[in-house]
Amino acid sequence: MDMKDFARRRKQLMRMMGEGAVAILPAAPVALRNRDVDYPYRQDSDFYYLSGFPEPEAVIVLIPGRKHGEYVLFCRERDIEMETWNGRRAGQLGACEQYGADDSFPISDIDDILPGMMEGCERVYYTMGVHPELDQQVLHWVNMIRSMNRSGSRAPGEFVSLEHLLHDMRLYKSRAEVALHRKAMKVSVEAHKQAMRFAAPGVMEYEVEAELLYQFQRNGMQTAYSSIVGSGANGCILHYTDNNAVLEDGDLLLIDAGAEKECYAADITRTFPVNGVFSKSQKALYQVVLDAQLAAIDKVRPGNHWNDAHEAAVEVLTAGLVELGILKGKVKKLVNDQAYRRFYMHRTGHWLGMDVHDVGDYKVDNEWRELEPGMMLTVEPGLYIPAGSKGVAKKWWNHGIRIEDDVLVTRDDPKVMTEAAPKSVDAIQEWMAG
Ligand code: GLY
Ligand code: MN
Ligand code: MN
Repeated sequence: MDMKDFARRRKQLMRMMGEGAVAILPAAPVALRNRDVDYPYRQDSDFYYLSGFPEPEAVIVLIPGRKHGEYVLFCRERDIEMETWNGRRAGQLGACEQYGADDSFPISDIDDILPGMMEGCERVYYTMGVHPELDQQVLHWVNMIRSMNRSGSRAPGEFVSLEHLLHDMRLYKSRAEVALHRKAMKVSVEAHKQAMRFAAPGVMEYEVEAELLYQFQRNGMQTAYSSIVGSGANGCILHYTDNNAVLEDGDLLLIDAGAEKECYAADITRTFPVNGVFSKSQKALYQVVLDAQLAAIDKVRPGNHWNDAHEAAVEVLTAGLVELGILKGKVKKLVNDQAYRRFYMHRTGHWLGMDVHDVGDYKVDNEWRELEPGMMLTVEPGLYIPAGSKGVAKKWWNHGIRIEDDVLVTRDDPKVMTEAAPKSVDAIQEWMAG
């Protein structure tokens, strides 16, 4: 992403904040895995969205109209010894020259410098309750300014959630953002295709997972979330990530996996037979889920509401379950009674962006949000029938099926960004036979 894009976002946010305001946004902390070992560092999405700055221990401060520069970045100082151990740092010079900050100070000096910058501001845009330590610091700074009241200092009187403005911005993807999504999705599609060909009776789920991660990493990407590789009964566990069972002949395999490119995610699910050929029952149930997905995708159009896709999916799933004799009764009543929830217990999608379950409100003024061009979302209906399901014929047991694509709302037809991953019964069987 071009540094100009980050600058444009900061300008847009500051325009909305108006003068007399200050925004404070911290980098993600390093997460400890165990003793001396950290998890791989992942920058906070909001922080990255505004800065492109990849380091921990940093704070963005935006002060619209500040004469000495509106964008201040507090970050770690250069330190040759620390950098020898733990990697390079931009330092204050790098913050300005590489990352476009107007001004930069060592993070260790923030207590001395930031209160002075906040003085005279009326509103503080800061999200409370996410970083408890910084919450305390921010309150302390405000109180410090307040205590200097008699010497003419004016403390901010209002706290405003930064997320409100920022998350609405993030909901609308620019061309550059869609391009990054596209890269992550292309690699993820390729990974799913390779995994389909690699899977076979006797292979372990974690071997299939390794194949996915190999494809991500050899393209310079990470996984956007823990991959789900669930065969047979495991396909009926929605967030299954153990991935440690052997693939059995005759079982389905559900793979939910996606890569991340410069913080932009892909999120794809495909379900296919381990041995490459759908059995009669697998094919019948799979077709119901696929029909539901296609009906839901067709609702991803400007002017439609967020929930329209879910309602379309639920309708088709319920009708299919009745047709197959898994549910009994009238479709309309079963939908109203939510009888499908026994086999379909999640929703049909979510916003997709820098976070796989991305930010953005689903309702506005208590009404489902209208879709607009530039919004990106997933469409992912499924059916899950674990062994022992009462009143359900045995032939359906251990069928866990989800089909998930990433869809961009456009002025015209929905743009299915991940359609190149084989999806119809024929396309999957042909690809696996190839
Ligand atoms: N991979 C998480 C989801 O599909 O929502
Ligand atoms: Mn998803
Ligand atoms: Mn998924």
